[in-house]
Amino acid sequence: MAKKKLLVLTGGGDCPGLNAVIRGIVKRANNESDWEVVGSIEAFNGVLSSPQRLMPLNNETTAGIHVKGGTILKTTNKGNPLEFAIEKPDGTIDIADRSDELIEKIKKLGVEAVVNIGGDGSQRISQKLFEKGLNIIGVPKTIDNDLSATDFTFGFRTAVQIATDSFDKLVTTAESHHRVMIMEVMGRDAGWIALHTAIAGGAEVCLIPEIPYDIDKVVQKINDRYEDGRGFVNIVIAEGAKSKGGPVTGQKSDEAGYENLRLRGVAFVLSEQLKKAGCKADIRETVLGHVQRGGTPIAFDRILATMFGVKAMEMVLNKEFGRMASYRNNKITSVSIKEAISAYNLVDKNSFMVQASRGMGISFGD
Ligand code: F6P
Repeated sequence: MAKKKLLVLTGGGDCPGLNAVIRGIVKRANNESDWEVVGSIEAFNGVLSSPQRLMPLNNETTAGIHVKGGTILKTTNKGNPLEFAIEKPDGTIDIADRSDELIEKIKKLGVEAVVNIGGDGSQRISQKLFEKGLNIIGVPKTIDNDLSATDFTFGFRTAVQIATDSFDKLVTTAESHHRVMIMEVMGRDAGWIALHTAIAGGAEVCLIPEIPYDIDKVVQKINDRYEDGRGFVNIVIAEGAKSKGGPVTGQKSDEAGYENLRLRGVAFVLSEQLKKAGCKADIRETVLGHVQRGGTPIAFDRILATMFGVKAMEMVLNKEFGRMASYRNNKITSVSIKEAISAYNLVDKNSFMVQASRGMGISFGD
């Protein structure tokens, strides 16, 4: 008898733990004699392209991959089937809705269900495809931890660990040279990586998108530290942070189909603002960038990702389509994708974590 087919894909930016989710799905599917799993390479592009780019997912192809960063299925943030960028011979771009074609192609492959492992953008696509009748389940992924309806996304804690290790290394230079060291971390809309790193690393200043900063307050904090005779300051700033009334720092990408503003360089903007506002100390800037998403996931993320994989397969078996695996109150559960994409998970400036940080003397520049 022909087996039922599950299609799995990874979309958006890569994230430590994606492979552990894939392996979790495959291991759980192996317990069901009537299911087989196939992967679409580079999100939905694998199904849409001709010839199609698909990969069998089984014990052989997924053995030991939970330890590896990235995704064996490859990924892209330029593959939205509802707004697909098609480059014309003259170099201009046409945007086409290829969702009906995608659903048709998925049907032709004999696929019964789809698991889309991805962040906010990917789950918005999942919801649209679900509304068009596709049997789809979401698994939340992002180092930014900005998806609501789950307490944590996998990859976040690995990113915090990498950022904290890097921060520790910069403290050495700050201390030795009496410098102000600025470290820029990822965090487009949410300052979770910056906040956790600031606490774990012992920063004096933490600047996040949710709390626009007043540059004079930041200079005041720096001057206070120098007057104390300690003479060095470590600042962690999220890429999406901005001064009060100011813009975010980034450029529109010229990559076809790339929807996001490319955020980077706020560390240098802050450095200039500090100098202009009268900061006399020597300043150095570090932009951590994609190292935060790279390499081996820490144990917590491997475990969370594996649980999400097993849960996603069980949701397929129970036909819980239109829902996303989620981790809430120390339990693996599920929520509707609609709810999951309805709001961002942002840092609440009245939360205990922010209050505790202030209690530790960390300035948010407000
Ligand atoms: O969404 C996760 C994230 O890491 C953001 O923090 C960052 O702005 C973005 O991805 C960078 O994406 P890319 O890999 O396309 O540069």
